[in-house]
Parts: sequence; C-alpha cells; structure tokens
Amino acid sequence: MKIRVPATSANLGPGFDSCGIALSEYLFIEVLEDTDTWIIEHNLSGEIPTDGSNLLLQTALALAPNLSPKRLKMTSEIPLARGLGSSSSVIVAGIELANRLGNLHLSVKDKVQIATELEGHPDNVAPAICGGFVVASFLDGAVHYVKHHFPDCDVLAYVPSHELLTTESRSVLPESISYKEAVAASGIANVMIAAILNGNLPLAGVMMEKDKWHESYRMHLVPHLKDIREICHEEGAYASFLSGAGPTILVLSPEEKTEALMARLTELDEQAQINLLHVDKEGVQVF
Ligand code: HSE
Repeated sequence: MKIRVPATSANLGPGFDSCGIALSEYLFIEVLEDTDTWIIEHNLSGEIPTDGSNLLLQTALALAPNLSPKRLKMTSEIPLARGLGSSSSVIVAGIELANRLGNLHLSVKDKVQIATELEGHPDNVAPAICGGFVVASFLDGAVHYVKHHFPDCDVLAYVPSHELLTTESRSVLPESISYKEAVAASGIANVMIAAILNGNLPLAGVMMEKDKWHESYRMHLVPHLKDIREICHEEGAYASFLSGAGPTILVLSPEEKTEALMARLTELDEQAQINLLHVDKEGVQVF
C-alpha cells in the first residue's frame, strides 16, 4: 500500500487560517513488511525520527493504538519548514495509515475534523485531504468546510533556501486589530473567495494582494515578497502571496506568462528554488 499526500498552500493572502489549495508536490508513505518494532526509512534532512516518535506514527497510533508494527518508507518532495504544509502532510498521512491498517472507516469529514484538531487550524490539512480549493472555519472545536475546484493557472512556488518556523512567523502577529480593520479584512477575503468560485482569477488576484490579516506584520521576515510582487506586476501574473506562514512565495500565473516570470524570478537569488506546480484536484490518495 502506498499513501500519497499533496503539499498545500494556506491563506492565499486574506483567507488567513481558513483558505488553502492542494499542490502537485507530494509526500509518499509506502507500507512494507511486518516487523517487531516500527521502522520508518525516510529521505528527509535534519533530525527526523525513524521510530515510533515520528509524527506520522504518533498520529496513526493515537487513532489506532493496536496497529501491528511495520517497516515504512517515507519519501517527500515537500520542502520542510517553508510554508508548503510539510507537517500537515505527515499528519494527514498518519490519519490515513490508521484508517487503512486499522479499518477505521473514517469519512472525509472525520479526517478533516481529526487533522484540524491535531494541527490547530484547517487551512493546510483540509486541502491536503480534499484536494482543490478549500474554505474552512474551526469554531468551538468543530470544523465546517467547503471544497471547490480552483480556476486553471500555473502555480510557481518561490522557495527560499532558509527555513521559517510557523511558531516564529505567528509570534509577530498582533493580539487584536480594530473592528474597522476586521470588517475591511473580511470584506477583502469574501470577494477573493467569491471571485475564485466565479473563475475570475484576475479579480481574485487583486484581492489576494490586499490582505490585512497577516502579510504586513510578517513582511520583515520575508523581505523577498516585495521584489517578487513587483516582478509579478511587471510580467502580468494574477497574484503573489506568502504561502502559509512563509518563507515560500506562491505566484499564480496565466500559462503564457510563466516562462518570462520564471526567468525573472531566477535572477533574484540563485539559492532559491522555483518550482512550477499546479493545483492538485484529488487530495490524499491510497494506491
Ligand atoms: N494560517 C497559518 C499561518 C498557516 O499563516 O500561520 C501556517 O501554518
């Protein structure tokens, strides 16, 4: 059995902690033979555990404690701590692992609820499970969400070489904002979502860049956003925004503009990676 979970990009500007899309970069978990104790072989850099303390197994065993140990192979194309939902993908894979090996018969809704409780907000885990574009709320412990397809476009992920931890990127956000600002910020988000549902990416893109919830507070942590946005305006992209808590910047581009955009973005920093992606329509898959 092989489980495949997509990367995700949360927020899309004004949809802070609520909106996200699934992307065509993946985490794969291969379930191999029975063993005496759990073993995870992985290709991830850094100090990622290879035993039961790995987030994948912690998640799976919390849901199904009696699973019999196996050798697992974890391979990931999703860069770590870059704002592309790498830890959410592991949580979603852990839930699916428990679901399949433990015959839990979880519905999609069950998976979104469990994953959101574990992650704390639904904007990465919900699209990782459902695919496409997901709008979600997490209120008083309950998740409500709507999945919709995302209009056709190219997605460029500008991935800087340095990491940025979500905890650090959240620590710079204000405790509160004024009523007037909140009304303006939610109006922008509402139009962005309605424009996406209408397939109107030019309007959605304008709204994505008017976020009032988080990007301005995080700007000093992601100074490359300003230059990238300027290039995107010059080259005719729909929008650029901070992917999740950053530092990756996501650019939505009409197909015919992508080549020129990539050439310009490549000149900015030779350490950064620029990945050409598309929105994944499916979410988590089991083969
Ligand atoms: N909505 C979250 C944030 C996504 O921007 O902090 C990252 O976990």
